[in-house]
Amino acid sequence: MVKLQVNGKDRSWDGDPDLPLLWYLRDEAGLTGTKFGCGQALCGACTVHVDGTAVRSCITAMSAVDGSKVVTIEGLHPTGDHPVQKAWRELNVPQCGFCQAGQIMQAAALLAGQGNPSDDDIRSGMSGNICRCGCYQRIAAAVRVAATGT
Ligand code: FES
Ligand code: FES
Repeated sequence: MVKLQVNGKDRSWDGDPDLPLLWYLRDEAGLTGTKFGCGQALCGACTVHVDGTAVRSCITAMSAVDGSKVVTIEGLHPTGDHPVQKAWRELNVPQCGFCQAGQIMQAAALLAGQGNPSDDDIRSGMSGNICRCGCYQRIAAAVRVAATGT
């Protein structure tokens, strides 16, 4: 039995311990904000926080999150007003939107660990998150806004 917390709520999972966290979140918990892109840790669409660290939920087995606190895009802020979310709105970052939950979760983890990242820090911190619409410049600008307000 895997016990975990998802967005502040205690949960347990009695099924396959190898089930990827992504499918538990989407199919069992109904949290469909976390997206499936590649299934191979190559795109970042499935990024969530596990104990404060950004992880790729598509390759994270349920057994690996036993006892952990998981936060998804739905739980990042109760009213969607995390500084990263506010910056994303201010700069109109998304195009199709598919990658954006993962981008925001990655950016939030980056800023939690590094309050005032350099442009290089932002580039390397966000480099594993692919945007097929090519919103990279707005993504980097919004991370800067979220970090510094400029
Ligand atoms: S779906 Fe997990 S990294 Fe692409
Ligand atoms: S906004 Fe379309 S994939 Fe990123």
